[in-house]
Amino acid sequence: MRGKFITFEGGEGTGKSTHAALLAHRLEALGVGVLLTREPGGSPGAEVIRHVLLSGGAKPFGPEAEAILFAAARDDHIQCSILPALAAGKWVVCDRFADSTRVYQGALGKLDRRLMKALERISVGALSPNLTFVLDVPAALGQERAARRRDGGSPDRFEAEGIEFHENLRQAYLALAASEPERCVIVDASRTKGEVAKRIWAAVNSRLHPATAPFVFEKTPA
Ligand code: TYD
Repeated sequence: MRGKFITFEGGEGTGKSTHAALLAHRLEALGVGVLLTREPGGSPGAEVIRHVLLSGGAKPFGPEAEAILFAAARDDHIQCSILPALAAGKWVVCDRFADSTRVYQGALGKLDRRLMKALERISVGALSPNLTFVLDVPAALGQERAARRRDGGSPDRFEAEGIEFHENLRQAYLALAASEPERCVIVDASRTKGEVAKRIWAAVNSRLHPATAPFVFEKTPA
């Protein structure tokens, strides 16, 4: 794989989407070719599955069925979007990836470990992010931010869970990040947007050296 793969993880209202987009723009400004994408979704097939999952349509079938759908969406996203971009030398910046399944369906959904491992092996295989940011805020602050962002709209399937779920989510992410310190960087996302962006940029520079990334020639369609 020629490009680099960076993922953003964390609970609701931690600012993942904002910081993924900010990082993508900063990389582009350096001349790095970037694919900014998200999960669930990120390819036409996976976006269809996203709708089924976030509408709560799959919830009655239980956490196993939800995990299988997340894996199916991920497989399509990897094959159709992520791998081609990496092969072309682009940097892929992804809002959520396999750690979300480990935490939401695994640690919190208490799915069988063997099922989780099998699904990850089938969908993700040997692909691993070069760098993962775990954005961390106290659960109450995250929920407050997510509610402000919805601006009166109704919460999705996972936002609708109670405060205890969100606090457990936070602890599960912190434990996961601590178990893979060479890949994961925990960022205190209760700080200002500017401070968080600065911390992220510093980590990207010191670990992945974007200034030395080879130029990616984009073919324009004839
Ligand atoms: P999204 O609207 O993208 O919200 P957020 O801003 O929180 O990322 O919703 C994605 C939801 O799906 C989020 O609540 C987490 C959940 N999710 C899982 O449970 N497992 C997964 O593997 C992924 C990728 C997401």
